Amino acid sequence: MNKPKLLILSIVLFSTVLLSSRLLWADMPPYQQTEFKIPESYQDNIKGYPSSWRRLSGYEYSALHWDQFVVVYTNNGGDIYANNHFEFMRIYEEDLDYEEGEASYKDYAVGTILLKESFLSQNSRPGLSLLLSGMIKREKGYDSAFGDWEYFQSKKNGEIIVSGNSKDAEIQTMCIGCHSNIQDKDFVFATHYSLSPR
Ligand code: HEC
Repeated sequence: MNKPKLLILSIVLFSTVLLSSRLLWADMPPYQQTEFKIPESYQDNIKGYPSSWRRLSGYEYSALHWDQFVVVYTNNGGDIYANNHFEFMRIYEEDLDYEEGEASYKDYAVGTILLKESFLSQNSRPGLSLLLSGMIKREKGYDSAFGDWEYFQSKKNGEIIVSGNSKDAEIQTMCIGCHSNIQDKDFVFATHYSLSPR
């Protein structure tokens, strides 16, 4: 093939690749892409979550770490999460007494999974992907005193940092210490919620 022909062919090929990748990106909103690798041991539970699960929040400033953004996803706990989120807002806004049981919080169904991605805030934008934290609602009796939740946390590369329940000393100090304060909301904070089309 002579040089001009080769040049034209390269231009055509290059533009096709460029165009198709642009179309792909256009089809895929940014929140459906993730840099987090799913840990081997949770592949069956959370595979494909960014595109197929319900995203409960945008990139929100974490209530826990002031220099981090978080995004929360669930497989099927969205309605309960939304209910508990708005119930909490109502109690707070109407200044009702928390102790008098005025909130009608609901518990999550067995099989519900909640995931929280966290990102470092860089120039007030979500930057470096940090951790993936998860809670899986197991069958009754799995960990009765703490709502039968399994907890895990992994790094961006999928390496597990901790996983287990209250019988594991690390989970007790690293996760349950905080989450047990919200037993009335079935141990799930449900702090951030944005209405989403799904
Ligand atoms: C110091 C308190 C604290 C500790 C410790 C903690 N969390 Fe949380 N967690 C929160 C808060 C507050 C939220 C609400 C989201 C936010 O603002 O970051 C949250 C949210 C979550 C969520 C999203 C569902 C929800 O509750 O709204 C998951 C999943 C989660 N945490 C898992 C974990 C795991 C796993 C660990 C242990 C490795 C852990 N958390 C340790 C305070 C804590």
